[in-house]
Amino acid sequence: MPNTVPVYRTHLCHELRAADIGQTVTLSGWVKSRRDHGGVIFIDLRDREGLTQIVFNPETNKAVADLAHTLRDEFVIRVTGKVVARLTGTENKNLPTGEIEIVASQLDVLNASLTPPFPLDGSVENEDLLLSHRYLDLRRPALFNNIRLRHRITKVLRDGLDKLGFIEVETPILSKSTPEGARDFLVPSRLAPGSFYALPQAPQQYKQLLMVAGLERYFQIARCFRDEDLRADRQPEFTQVDLEASFVTTEDLYAWLEGLMHAIFKEAKGIDIKTPFPRMTWANAMNAYGSDKPDVRFGLRLVELTDVFAESQFKVFRAAADNAANGSVIKAINAKKFASITTGQIEDLTKTAQQYGAKGLAFIKVEGGEWKSPIVKFFSEAEKKALTERLEIEEGDLILFGADKWETVVEVLGRIRLRVAEILKLVDDIDALNFLWVVDFPLLQFNAEESKWNAVHHPFTRPKAEDLALLDDPANYGKIRAEAYDLVLNGVEVGGGSIRIHEADLQSKMFTILGVDEETQQSMFGHILKAFRFGAPPHGGLALGLDRLVMLVAGAETIRDVIAFPKNNRGADLMTQSPAKVEARQLRELHINTKV
Ligand code: AMO
Ligand code: AMP
Repeated sequence: MPNTVPVYRTHLCHELRAADIGQTVTLSGWVKSRRDHGGVIFIDLRDREGLTQIVFNPETNKAVADLAHTLRDEFVIRVTGKVVARLTGTENKNLPTGEIEIVASQLDVLNASLTPPFPLDGSVENEDLLLSHRYLDLRRPALFNNIRLRHRITKVLRDGLDKLGFIEVETPILSKSTPEGARDFLVPSRLAPGSFYALPQAPQQYKQLLMVAGLERYFQIARCFRDEDLRADRQPEFTQVDLEASFVTTEDLYAWLEGLMHAIFKEAKGIDIKTPFPRMTWANAMNAYGSDKPDVRFGLRLVELTDVFAESQFKVFRAAADNAANGSVIKAINAKKFASITTGQIEDLTKTAQQYGAKGLAFIKVEGGEWKSPIVKFFSEAEKKALTERLEIEEGDLILFGADKWETVVEVLGRIRLRVAEILKLVDDIDALNFLWVVDFPLLQFNAEESKWNAVHHPFTRPKAEDLALLDDPANYGKIRAEAYDLVLNGVEVGGGSIRIHEADLQSKMFTILGVDEETQQSMFGHILKAFRFGAPPHGGLALGLDRLVMLVAGAETIRDVIAFPKNNRGADLMTQSPAKVEARQLRELHINTKV
């Protein structure tokens, strides 16, 4: 009996080779392009895996060729035919299937397609147009390959964590506000009028409660939600590879993460990255690179000069040096061979400096053996000598200075450093993977506007044992270091975590330092404070930003390129048109009145 079940395909579109010549095959996919060569129709048939050329010749099969005339881009078809060698000289070396083509004997149009609003094989500038037709954009191999890469990386992580004894657990999406520092997305409760769930900014408290529960090693590919301003590496919903373990030290965590990163790059790129990763204290990162996620692929380090200008005639620097006891500093970077900077570029850098709080951006160009700058006339010979030595000044260099409060100077010069590297294209040709652990973050940071101390990481982070005593005097809060660490790759923070507080009393003390009174502690965190009283084990963990990690492995420019259905930079999904208005009835059921 003939087989009446439709067979969509005997092969995929990337498979057929010269060795298959003579076979009759069936392929299904999309029409990528149609060319009419004097009545003979050529089609590139595309499926997920690749392309195969199909030929419809009216001389061998008129009916089929006539039907092929009606095909347009993105029609979905099934083709049966014979694999033949391409004519000598027409082979396509760039295509795995370029030696052969299929002479069609049967054609079925499985579905028609409207003309796509943008070409699927060219570059398209209009991102809104792409996002509103994301399902078409995803047909483009570059984007599809990112999504497949994401799958592979997730699988490596799942397998790797499983081998290490981690257990995957799902935690609630409808949950309670966790203080991770961003604004919450809220979900109104129908059953408890006037009450709201918060979507998790991270599963932080749940994973710690799983440690109290004795799970010992937990992980989750966890969706997180943060209502914050969006950038290239930020989305309102994003994915963390979230993990937590009991009875561990930072050393255990570093070794695990280094092993996982090694496995990812082996799988995705076939390379053996070097482990262990170097470590840098937060203080050194800030002082030398002006960033807590330094891009160490290039130098341009911040050089400390405060002492050099203790007696200076240049008022701006002298004022900073005189104020050193109150935290003012003078630092500079040497932009090697950049004395050729244009006036426009100097203005551009100065604007960047001002945007981050600097009052100005003093500079020196070293040209023709001369230091060119309006401020040089104020410098003594001793100051010039010290600058030359510390900044290793040579002909053709450009020196950029910052003089202000330490926080301002490092932030400003850190930004200038990145901007200069961009202008000089310092990293464009570097194929390096510079992993770095940034360690010993400060525990607390004073917020002058609110006049209160905030947690740098989150309130569950443990102070370093050596610094525990500093908790007793507010004058010392700024000096306390946390048992916290970030994983940085090429200047991008791909993960962060900490060893946690597991004692109820210490946790409560921490909340008090953060300005959370006893009553609020009970209403907001009573569950975790109570849990800690039932034999909570010492524990710690970390969360990787999966989107950022995949972006870096893929070499993509933004995390939107590694997320199937991302939001645009205004937080909207242009395809489904969300957020959207809802019906009045739905709002009534939720006891909500809107003003707009
Ligand atoms: P943290 O807030 O540092 O730590 O987040 C962990 C990692 O998640 C990524 N990330 C983001 N990625 C895309 N879009 C965003 N809006 C976004 N926000 C953060 C970053 C970051 O390093 N609960 C703690 C982890 C812990 O202590 O274990 C936490 O969430 O790559
Ligand atoms: P002024 O004395 O204000 O004319 O400044 C002389 C130069 O120093 C200019 O190039 C300013 O941009 C720069 N400058 C002023 N204040 C600062 C500062 N706080 N840090 C670095 N450069 C500064």
